[in-house]
Amino acid sequence: MSKKVIFILGSPRKKGNTNVLAREAMRGLAEAGIVSVEIDAPRLDFKSPGCISCYKCQQSKEYGCHIRDELGQAVSRLADHDAIVLATPLYWFSYPAQVKMFIDRMFSMIKFGEEHEILSPLRGKPMALLATAGGGVEENLELLDTQWRLPASKIDAPYRSCLFPFCQYAPGGVANDAAAMTKAAAFGRELASLLK
Ligand SMILES: Cc1cc2nc3c(=O)[nH]c(=O)nc-3n(C[C@H](O)[C@H](O)[C@H](O)COP(=O)(O)O)c2cc1C
Repeated sequence: MSKKVIFILGSPRKKGNTNVLAREAMRGLAEAGIVSVEIDAPRLDFKSPGCISCYKCQQSKEYGCHIRDELGQAVSRLADHDAIVLATPLYWFSYPAQVKMFIDRMFSMIKFGEEHEILSPLRGKPMALLATAGGGVEENLELLDTQWRLPASKIDAPYRSCLFPFCQYAPGGVANDAAAMTKAAAFGRELASLLK
């Protein structure tokens, strides 16, 4: 069966440059026969924004969010995939708020063992970041890179990132930037090679 990668699309701009580059990475994956699935995080419906610290996920043997809404269902689907890619613009040196809501709910995908070790069905699955920003990498995009690399390291997930500093602002304009598009497709192929 072909491998499946799930993309958490984080851009509030549906036709923004992050999604254009993410789809180019998906094209790179498709060349290797890998299927990509999208979660449009900013447009998921929710009963409660983010995690409400109910701890029901920690009291249950099952993994997954107990808030019955689209946000919870989308988070619970992560484990059905072979790799997770967060594709997001940088907002205030971090994720957009809509992405943070999703990531906080990812608490439901981990539990703590008797030795305080982290148990998760995501353990060992590659995690990746594709991120765009108006500014540079230093003291800017690198902060987001660290924020996604750290949770990956806690679950022994191989980590890769592809950063697009000084990205074009006009929605979809990056499609005319051959170097950026080539880089995104190559990133898709790099992720595919991790799944071989
Ligand atoms: C609310 C907001 C905050 C932003 N914060 C940053 C930032 O901290 N650093 C930066 O370099 N760019 C920042 N930007 C610019 C976006 O990261 C950049 O335009 C990005 O490529 C937009 O992606 P999109 O085309 O998918 O919407 C910000 C933009 C917005 C709207």
